[in-house]
Amino acid sequence: MILVTGGAGFIGANFVLDWLRTNDEPVVNLDALTYAGNLENLAALQGDRRHIFVQGDICDRALIDRLFAEHRPRAIVHFAAESHVDRSIHGPAAFVRTNVEGTFTLLEAARAYWSALDGAEQAAFRFLHVSTDEVYGSLGPNDPPFAETKAYEPNSPYSASKAASDHLVRAWHHTYGLPVLTTNCSNNYGPYQFPEKLIPLMIANALAGKALPVYGDGRNVRDWLYVGDHCAAIREVLARGRLGETYNVGGWNEKPNLEIVHTVCALLDELRPDPAGPHARLITYVADRPGHDRRYAIDAHKIERELGWRPAETFETGIRKTIAWYLANQDWVADVQSGAYREWVARNYGDRPA
Ligand code: NAD
Ligand code: DAU
Repeated sequence: MILVTGGAGFIGANFVLDWLRTNDEPVVNLDALTYAGNLENLAALQGDRRHIFVQGDICDRALIDRLFAEHRPRAIVHFAAESHVDRSIHGPAAFVRTNVEGTFTLLEAARAYWSALDGAEQAAFRFLHVSTDEVYGSLGPNDPPFAETKAYEPNSPYSASKAASDHLVRAWHHTYGLPVLTTNCSNNYGPYQFPEKLIPLMIANALAGKALPVYGDGRNVRDWLYVGDHCAAIREVLARGRLGETYNVGGWNEKPNLEIVHTVCALLDELRPDPAGPHARLITYVADRPGHDRRYAIDAHKIERELGWRPAETFETGIRKTIAWYLANQDWVADVQSGAYREWVARNYGDRPA
Protein backbone atom coordinates (compact mmCIF):
# COMPACT_ATOMS: atom_id res chain seq x y z
CA MET A 1 0.00 0.00 0.00
CA ILE A 2 1.22 3.48 -0.81
CA LEU A 3 -0.28 6.77 0.38
CA VAL A 4 -0.59 9.41 -2.35
CA THR A 5 -1.50 13.00 -1.46
CA GLY A 6 -3.09 15.25 -4.08
CA GLY A 7 -3.99 12.27 -6.27
CA ALA A 8 -7.10 13.96 -7.71
CA GLY A 9 -5.06 16.81 -9.23
CA PHE A 10 -3.31 16.91 -12.58
CA ILE A 11 -0.05 15.04 -11.94
CA GLY A 12 -1.34 13.07 -8.95
CA ALA A 13 -4.26 11.63 -10.94
CA ASN A 14 -1.97 10.72 -13.84
CA PHE A 15 0.35 9.06 -11.32
CA VAL A 16 -2.42 7.03 -9.64
CA LEU A 17 -3.79 5.91 -13.03
CA ASP A 18 -0.28 4.94 -14.24
CA TRP A 19 0.56 3.23 -10.95
CA LEU A 20 -2.52 1.00 -11.04
CA ARG A 21 -2.04 0.30 -14.75
CA THR A 22 1.50 -0.95 -14.20
CA ASN A 23 1.22 -2.33 -10.68
CA ASP A 24 -1.19 -4.13 -8.35
CA GLU A 25 -0.12 -2.40 -5.16
CA PRO A 26 -3.13 -0.47 -3.75
CA VAL A 27 -3.21 3.28 -3.25
CA VAL A 28 -4.80 5.38 -0.51
CA ASN A 29 -5.41 8.73 -2.15
CA LEU A 30 -5.77 11.71 0.22
CA ASP A 31 -7.00 14.87 -1.48
CA ALA A 32 -8.93 17.88 -0.20
CA LEU A 33 -10.68 18.36 -3.57
CA THR A 34 -9.89 22.05 -3.84
CA TYR A 35 -10.81 23.76 -7.13
CA ALA A 36 -7.90 21.79 -8.69
CA GLY A 37 -8.89 18.36 -7.42
CA ASN A 38 -11.36 16.45 -9.55
CA LEU A 39 -12.54 12.88 -8.99
CA GLU A 40 -13.67 12.75 -12.61
CA ASN A 41 -9.94 12.40 -13.40
CA LEU A 42 -10.12 9.03 -11.63
CA ALA A 43 -13.43 7.87 -13.10
CA ALA A 44 -11.63 4.91 -14.72
CA LEU A 45 -10.97 3.56 -11.21
CA GLN A 46 -14.57 3.56 -10.00
CA GLY A 47 -15.24 0.17 -8.41
CA ASP A 48 -11.51 -0.69 -8.38
CA ARG A 49 -10.79 -1.87 -4.84
CA ARG A 50 -7.08 -1.08 -5.21
CA HIS A 51 -7.94 2.64 -5.04
CA ILE A 52 -9.18 4.05 -1.73
CA PHE A 53 -10.10 7.72 -1.97
CA VAL A 54 -10.23 9.85 1.17
CA GLN A 55 -11.32 13.47 1.01
CA GLY A 56 -9.27 15.38 3.55
CA ASP A 57 -6.66 18.00 4.27
CA ILE A 58 -2.93 17.33 4.59
CA CYS A 59 -2.92 19.83 7.48
CA ASP A 60 -5.23 17.49 9.47
CA ARG A 61 -2.78 15.56 11.67
CA ALA A 62 -5.44 13.35 13.28
CA LEU A 63 -6.68 12.22 9.88
CA ILE A 64 -3.17 11.41 8.66
CA ASP A 65 -2.38 9.46 11.82
CA ARG A 66 -5.59 7.48 11.28
CA LEU A 67 -4.68 6.74 7.64
CA PHE A 68 -1.23 5.51 8.66
CA ALA A 69 -2.68 3.29 11.41
CA GLU A 70 -5.44 1.86 9.21
CA HIS A 71 -3.54 1.32 5.96
CA ARG A 72 0.08 0.92 7.08
CA PRO A 73 1.56 2.31 3.83
CA ARG A 74 5.15 1.46 2.91
CA ALA A 75 5.59 4.85 1.23
CA ILE A 76 4.11 8.33 0.77
CA VAL A 77 4.19 10.10 -2.57
CA HIS A 78 3.37 13.72 -1.74
CA PHE A 79 1.86 15.76 -4.59
CA ALA A 80 -0.74 17.82 -2.70
CA ALA A 81 -0.06 21.52 -3.09
CA GLU A 82 -1.38 24.82 -4.26
CA SER A 83 0.34 24.85 -7.64
CA HIS A 84 -0.51 27.94 -9.68
CA VAL A 85 1.93 30.88 -9.66
CA ASP A 86 -0.67 33.53 -10.64
CA ARG A 87 -2.98 32.45 -7.81
CA SER A 88 -0.04 32.64 -5.38
CA ILE A 89 0.53 36.26 -6.36
CA HIS A 90 -3.09 37.18 -5.60
CA GLY A 91 -3.56 34.99 -2.52
CA PRO A 92 -0.35 33.64 -0.98
CA ALA A 93 -1.87 32.49 2.34
CA ALA A 94 -3.24 29.21 0.97
CA PHE A 95 0.20 28.43 -0.45
CA VAL A 96 1.94 28.85 2.88
CA ARG A 97 -0.75 26.80 4.61
CA THR A 98 -0.89 23.81 2.26
CA ASN A 99 2.64 23.75 0.89
CA VAL A 100 4.53 24.58 4.11
CA GLU A 101 2.24 23.66 7.00
CA GLY A 102 0.76 20.70 5.11
CA THR A 103 4.19 19.25 4.29
CA PHE A 104 5.29 19.84 7.89
CA THR A 105 2.21 17.99 9.17
CA LEU A 106 2.85 15.05 6.84
CA LEU A 107 6.52 14.89 7.83
CA GLU A 108 5.67 14.84 11.53
CA ALA A 109 3.00 12.18 11.07
CA ALA A 110 5.36 10.12 8.90
CA ARG A 111 8.15 10.45 11.44
CA ALA A 112 5.94 9.17 14.27
CA TYR A 113 4.69 6.25 12.14
CA TRP A 114 8.12 5.39 10.70
CA SER A 115 9.94 5.45 14.04
CA ALA A 116 7.47 2.89 15.45
CA LEU A 117 7.95 0.44 12.54
CA ASP A 118 10.01 -2.71 13.02
CA GLY A 119 13.51 -2.95 11.50
CA ALA A 120 12.68 -4.32 8.02
CA GLU A 121 9.59 -2.14 7.53
CA GLN A 122 11.48 0.88 8.81
CA ALA A 123 14.32 0.31 6.36
CA ALA A 124 11.90 -0.07 3.44
CA PHE A 125 9.81 3.06 4.20
CA ARG A 126 10.02 6.07 1.83
CA PHE A 127 8.71 9.66 1.87
CA LEU A 128 8.86 11.01 -1.69
CA HIS A 129 8.30 14.76 -1.95
CA VAL A 130 7.28 16.05 -5.38
CA SER A 131 8.69 19.51 -6.03
CA THR A 132 9.49 21.96 -8.77
CA ASP A 133 12.36 23.54 -10.68
CA GLU A 134 10.97 26.97 -9.73
CA VAL A 135 12.77 26.77 -6.36
CA TYR A 136 16.05 27.43 -8.19
CA GLY A 137 14.98 30.87 -9.45
CA SER A 138 15.43 32.32 -12.92
CA LEU A 139 18.20 31.69 -15.48
CA GLY A 140 19.86 34.14 -17.84
CA PRO A 141 20.06 33.20 -21.53
CA ASN A 142 23.60 31.77 -21.24
CA ASP A 143 23.37 30.16 -17.80
CA PRO A 144 23.73 26.38 -17.55
CA PRO A 145 20.52 24.47 -16.72
CA PHE A 146 19.64 23.83 -13.07
CA ALA A 147 21.67 21.03 -11.50
CA GLU A 148 20.73 19.62 -8.08
CA THR A 149 23.61 21.66 -6.59
CA LYS A 150 22.12 25.01 -7.73
CA ALA A 151 21.40 27.38 -4.81
CA TYR A 152 17.72 27.98 -4.09
CA GLU A 153 16.48 31.42 -5.21
CA PRO A 154 12.68 31.25 -5.26
CA ASN A 155 10.96 34.36 -6.60
CA SER A 156 7.19 33.84 -6.34
CA PRO A 157 5.05 33.06 -3.29
CA TYR A 158 4.43 29.64 -4.89
CA SER A 159 8.10 28.82 -5.40
CA ALA A 160 9.03 30.21 -1.98
CA SER A 161 6.45 27.94 -0.34
CA LYS A 162 7.73 24.92 -2.31
CA ALA A 163 11.32 25.83 -1.41
CA ALA A 164 10.33 25.97 2.26
CA SER A 165 8.73 22.53 1.97
CA ASP A 166 11.87 21.13 0.27
CA HIS A 167 13.99 22.48 3.13
CA LEU A 168 11.70 20.86 5.72
CA VAL A 169 11.98 17.52 3.91
CA ARG A 170 15.76 17.82 3.80
CA ALA A 171 15.92 18.70 7.51
CA TRP A 172 13.69 15.77 8.54
CA HIS A 173 16.20 13.47 6.85
CA HIS A 174 19.30 15.18 8.20
CA THR A 175 18.04 15.54 11.77
CA TYR A 176 15.69 12.60 12.29
CA GLY A 177 16.89 10.18 9.61
CA LEU A 178 13.47 10.04 7.92
CA PRO A 179 14.04 8.19 4.60
CA VAL A 180 13.12 10.96 2.16
CA LEU A 181 13.54 11.53 -1.57
CA THR A 182 12.82 14.80 -3.42
CA THR A 183 12.15 15.34 -7.12
CA ASN A 184 12.34 18.81 -8.71
CA CYS A 185 10.58 18.73 -12.04
CA SER A 186 10.09 21.20 -14.87
CA ASN A 187 6.77 22.25 -16.46
CA ASN A 188 4.40 19.34 -17.08
CA TYR A 189 1.70 19.12 -19.71
CA GLY A 190 -0.77 16.41 -20.68
CA PRO A 191 -4.29 15.11 -19.95
CA TYR A 192 -6.27 16.42 -16.95
CA GLN A 193 -4.28 19.66 -16.53
CA PHE A 194 -6.51 22.39 -15.15
CA PRO A 195 -7.17 25.06 -17.83
CA GLU A 196 -5.50 27.84 -15.84
CA LYS A 197 -2.00 26.66 -16.90
CA LEU A 198 -0.51 27.81 -20.21
CA ILE A 199 -1.08 24.83 -22.54
CA PRO A 200 -4.62 23.76 -21.53
CA LEU A 201 -5.72 27.41 -21.26
CA MET A 202 -4.52 28.08 -24.81
CA ILE A 203 -6.26 24.96 -26.13
CA ALA A 204 -9.53 25.75 -24.35
CA ASN A 205 -9.55 29.42 -25.36
CA ALA A 206 -8.60 28.70 -28.97
CA LEU A 207 -11.45 26.18 -29.27
CA ALA A 208 -13.85 28.74 -27.78
CA GLY A 209 -12.62 31.51 -30.12
CA LYS A 210 -11.37 33.52 -27.12
CA ALA A 211 -8.19 35.60 -26.80
CA LEU A 212 -4.91 33.72 -26.12
CA PRO A 213 -3.26 35.87 -23.42
CA VAL A 214 0.54 35.95 -23.73
CA TYR A 215 2.29 37.59 -20.78
CA GLY A 216 4.91 40.28 -21.49
CA ASP A 217 6.93 39.72 -24.66
CA GLY A 218 6.17 35.95 -24.78
CA ARG A 219 9.89 35.12 -24.71
CA ASN A 220 9.99 33.56 -21.24
CA VAL A 221 11.36 30.05 -21.52
CA ARG A 222 10.09 26.88 -19.83
CA ASP A 223 11.36 23.28 -20.08
CA TRP A 224 8.38 21.08 -20.95
CA LEU A 225 7.89 17.44 -19.94
CA TYR A 226 4.98 15.13 -20.75
CA VAL A 227 3.21 14.18 -17.51
CA GLY A 228 3.53 10.42 -18.14
CA ASP A 229 7.31 10.83 -18.23
CA HIS A 230 7.22 12.67 -14.90
CA CYS A 231 5.15 9.82 -13.40
CA ALA A 232 7.68 7.26 -14.70
CA ALA A 233 10.53 9.27 -13.15
CA ILE A 234 8.76 9.34 -9.78
CA ARG A 235 8.28 5.56 -9.90
CA GLU A 236 12.01 5.10 -10.59
CA VAL A 237 13.06 7.46 -7.78
CA LEU A 238 10.69 5.72 -5.37
CA ALA A 239 12.05 2.31 -6.31
CA ARG A 240 15.76 3.03 -6.53
CA GLY A 241 16.56 6.61 -5.51
CA ARG A 242 19.29 7.15 -2.92
CA LEU A 243 17.90 8.27 0.44
CA GLY A 244 18.17 11.97 1.20
CA GLU A 245 18.96 12.78 -2.44
CA THR A 246 17.16 15.15 -4.78
CA TYR A 247 16.64 14.33 -8.46
CA ASN A 248 15.95 16.94 -11.12
CA VAL A 249 13.47 15.79 -13.75
CA GLY A 250 13.14 17.51 -17.12
CA GLY A 251 12.64 16.94 -20.81
CA TRP A 252 15.67 18.74 -22.29
CA ASN A 253 12.99 20.69 -24.04
CA GLU A 254 13.32 24.45 -23.54
CA LYS A 255 10.87 26.57 -25.46
CA PRO A 256 9.76 30.21 -25.37
CA ASN A 257 6.07 30.64 -24.51
CA LEU A 258 5.24 32.18 -27.87
CA GLU A 259 6.57 29.10 -29.66
CA ILE A 260 4.38 26.89 -27.47
CA VAL A 261 1.31 28.98 -28.27
CA HIS A 262 2.08 28.91 -32.02
CA THR A 263 2.55 25.13 -31.90
CA VAL A 264 -0.81 24.68 -30.16
CA CYS A 265 -2.46 26.94 -32.76
CA ALA A 266 -0.88 25.12 -35.70
CA LEU A 267 -1.95 21.69 -34.40
CA LEU A 268 -5.48 22.93 -33.80
CA ASP A 269 -5.51 24.39 -37.35
CA GLU A 270 -4.64 20.90 -38.58
CA LEU A 271 -6.93 18.86 -36.33
CA ARG A 272 -9.89 21.24 -35.83
CA PRO A 273 -9.71 24.06 -38.40
CA ASP A 274 -11.66 27.18 -37.49
CA PRO A 275 -13.71 28.62 -40.39
CA ALA A 276 -13.03 32.10 -38.94
CA GLY A 277 -9.29 31.75 -39.70
CA PRO A 278 -6.02 30.48 -38.20
CA HIS A 279 -6.14 30.15 -34.40
CA ALA A 280 -3.00 32.31 -34.06
CA ARG A 281 -5.14 35.35 -34.93
CA LEU A 282 -6.37 35.11 -31.30
CA ILE A 283 -2.91 35.71 -29.75
CA THR A 284 -3.11 38.79 -27.52
CA TYR A 285 -0.22 40.33 -25.59
CA VAL A 286 -1.23 41.20 -22.01
CA ALA A 287 0.50 42.71 -18.96
CA ASP A 288 3.39 40.64 -17.66
CA ARG A 289 3.16 38.45 -14.52
CA PRO A 290 4.74 40.36 -11.59
CA GLY A 291 8.21 38.96 -10.85
CA HIS A 292 7.93 36.69 -13.91
CA ASP A 293 10.90 34.28 -14.02
CA ARG A 294 12.60 34.56 -17.40
CA ARG A 295 13.94 31.07 -17.99
CA TYR A 296 13.90 27.61 -16.43
CA ALA A 297 15.91 24.65 -17.70
CA ILE A 298 16.68 21.33 -16.05
CA ASP A 299 19.91 19.39 -16.14
CA ALA A 300 18.55 15.83 -15.91
CA HIS A 301 21.91 14.04 -16.04
CA LYS A 302 21.76 12.71 -12.47
CA ILE A 303 18.49 10.80 -12.82
CA GLU A 304 19.63 9.50 -16.23
CA ARG A 305 22.99 8.35 -14.90
CA GLU A 306 21.84 6.85 -11.58
CA LEU A 307 18.43 5.49 -12.48
CA GLY A 308 18.48 5.19 -16.26
CA TRP A 309 15.36 7.38 -16.63
CA ARG A 310 14.83 9.30 -19.86
CA PRO A 311 11.63 10.80 -21.24
CA ALA A 312 9.79 8.52 -23.66
CA GLU A 313 7.92 11.37 -25.39
CA THR A 314 9.40 14.13 -27.49
CA PHE A 315 7.60 17.46 -27.35
CA GLU A 316 6.18 16.76 -30.81
CA THR A 317 4.61 13.43 -29.77
CA GLY A 318 3.53 14.66 -26.32
CA ILE A 319 1.82 17.83 -27.49
CA ARG A 320 -0.01 15.97 -30.26
CA LYS A 321 -1.32 13.43 -27.70
CA THR A 322 -2.29 16.23 -25.35
CA ILE A 323 -4.23 18.17 -27.96
CA ALA A 324 -5.95 14.98 -29.12
CA TRP A 325 -6.96 14.32 -25.49
CA TYR A 326 -8.41 17.82 -25.02
CA LEU A 327 -10.28 17.56 -28.32
CA ALA A 328 -11.76 14.23 -27.24
CA ASN A 329 -12.58 15.51 -23.74
CA GLN A 330 -14.15 18.91 -24.26
CA ASP A 331 -16.86 17.97 -21.73
CA TRP A 332 -14.16 17.62 -19.09
CA VAL A 333 -12.95 21.16 -19.81
CA ALA A 334 -16.51 22.52 -19.80
CA ASP A 335 -17.17 20.72 -16.50
CA VAL A 336 -14.10 22.02 -14.68
CA GLN A 337 -14.73 25.51 -15.99
CA SER A 338 -18.37 25.45 -14.86
CA GLY A 339 -17.85 23.58 -11.59
CA ALA A 340 -20.19 20.83 -12.86
CA TYR A 341 -17.69 18.20 -11.79
CA ARG A 342 -18.64 18.87 -8.19
CA GLU A 343 -22.17 17.76 -9.12
CA TRP A 344 -20.65 14.68 -10.76
CA VAL A 345 -18.82 13.88 -7.52
CA ALA A 346 -22.01 14.27 -5.49
CA ARG A 347 -23.92 12.07 -7.96
CA ASN A 348 -21.31 9.32 -8.09
CA TYR A 349 -19.84 9.35 -4.63
CA GLY A 350 -22.47 10.96 -2.43
CA ASP A 351 -21.52 13.52 0.20
CA ARG A 352 -18.40 11.80 1.43
CA PRO A 353 -16.38 10.11 -1.33
CA ALA A 354 -15.00 6.73 -0.30
P1 NAD B 1 -2.77 20.54 -9.08
O1 NAD B 1 -3.05 21.91 -8.59
O2 NAD B 1 -3.36 20.09 -10.38
O3 NAD B 1 -3.26 19.47 -7.99
C1 NAD B 1 -3.03 19.65 -6.62
C2 NAD B 1 -3.91 18.66 -5.85
O4 NAD B 1 -3.66 18.83 -4.45
C3 NAD B 1 -5.41 18.88 -6.08
O5 NAD B 1 -6.05 17.64 -6.31
C4 NAD B 1 -5.88 19.49 -4.76
O6 NAD B 1 -7.23 19.18 -4.44
C5 NAD B 1 -4.90 18.87 -3.76
N1 NAD B 1 -4.75 19.69 -2.55
C6 NAD B 1 -4.51 21.03 -2.50
N2 NAD B 1 -4.46 21.43 -1.21
C7 NAD B 1 -4.63 20.32 -0.44
C8 NAD B 1 -4.66 20.07 0.95
N3 NAD B 1 -4.49 21.08 1.85
N4 NAD B 1 -4.84 18.81 1.39
C9 NAD B 1 -5.01 17.79 0.50
N5 NAD B 1 -5.02 17.97 -0.83
C10 NAD B 1 -4.82 19.21 -1.30
O7 NAD B 1 -1.20 20.39 -9.07
P2 NAD B 1 -0.23 19.58 -10.05
O8 NAD B 1 0.11 20.45 -11.21
O9 NAD B 1 -0.78 18.23 -10.27
O10 NAD B 1 1.08 19.50 -9.13
C11 NAD B 1 1.24 18.42 -8.22
C12 NAD B 1 2.56 18.58 -7.49
O11 NAD B 1 3.63 18.60 -8.44
C13 NAD B 1 2.67 19.89 -6.71
O12 NAD B 1 3.36 19.62 -5.51
C14 NAD B 1 3.50 20.80 -7.61
O13 NAD B 1 4.23 21.73 -6.85
C15 NAD B 1 4.41 19.78 -8.27
N6 NAD B 1 4.90 20.15 -9.62
C16 NAD B 1 4.03 20.54 -10.60
C17 NAD B 1 4.50 20.81 -11.87
C18 NAD B 1 3.59 21.22 -13.00
O14 NAD B 1 4.07 21.58 -14.08
N7 NAD B 1 2.26 21.14 -12.84
C19 NAD B 1 5.88 20.69 -12.13
C20 NAD B 1 6.75 20.31 -11.09
C21 NAD B 1 6.23 20.03 -9.85
O1 DAU C 1 8.29 24.81 -13.61
C1 DAU C 1 7.38 23.98 -12.93
C2 DAU C 1 6.13 24.76 -12.61
O2 DAU C 1 5.42 24.93 -13.83
C3 DAU C 1 5.25 24.08 -11.56
O3 DAU C 1 5.94 23.99 -10.35
C4 DAU C 1 3.95 24.87 -11.37
O4 DAU C 1 3.10 24.17 -10.46
C5 DAU C 1 3.26 25.00 -12.70
O5 DAU C 1 2.10 25.80 -12.56
C6 DAU C 1 4.21 25.63 -13.73
O6 DAU C 1 4.45 27.03 -13.42
P1 DAU C 1 4.54 28.15 -14.58
O7 DAU C 1 4.25 29.46 -13.99
O8 DAU C 1 5.79 27.99 -15.38
O9 DAU C 1 3.31 27.63 -15.51
P2 DAU C 1 2.12 28.40 -16.23
O10 DAU C 1 1.43 27.39 -17.09
O11 DAU C 1 1.29 29.20 -15.29
O12 DAU C 1 2.88 29.42 -17.18
C7 DAU C 1 3.85 28.96 -18.13
C8 DAU C 1 4.44 30.19 -18.80
O13 DAU C 1 3.43 30.79 -19.62
C9 DAU C 1 4.89 31.27 -17.85
O14 DAU C 1 6.04 31.90 -18.38
C10 DAU C 1 3.73 32.25 -17.82
C11 DAU C 1 3.16 32.15 -19.22
N1 DAU C 1 1.70 32.34 -19.34
C12 DAU C 1 0.88 31.62 -18.53
C13 DAU C 1 -0.48 31.76 -18.62
C14 DAU C 1 -1.40 30.99 -17.70
C15 DAU C 1 1.19 33.19 -20.31
O15 DAU C 1 1.94 33.84 -21.08
N2 DAU C 1 -0.16 33.33 -20.40
C16 DAU C 1 -1.02 32.66 -19.59
O16 DAU C 1 -2.27 32.84 -19.71
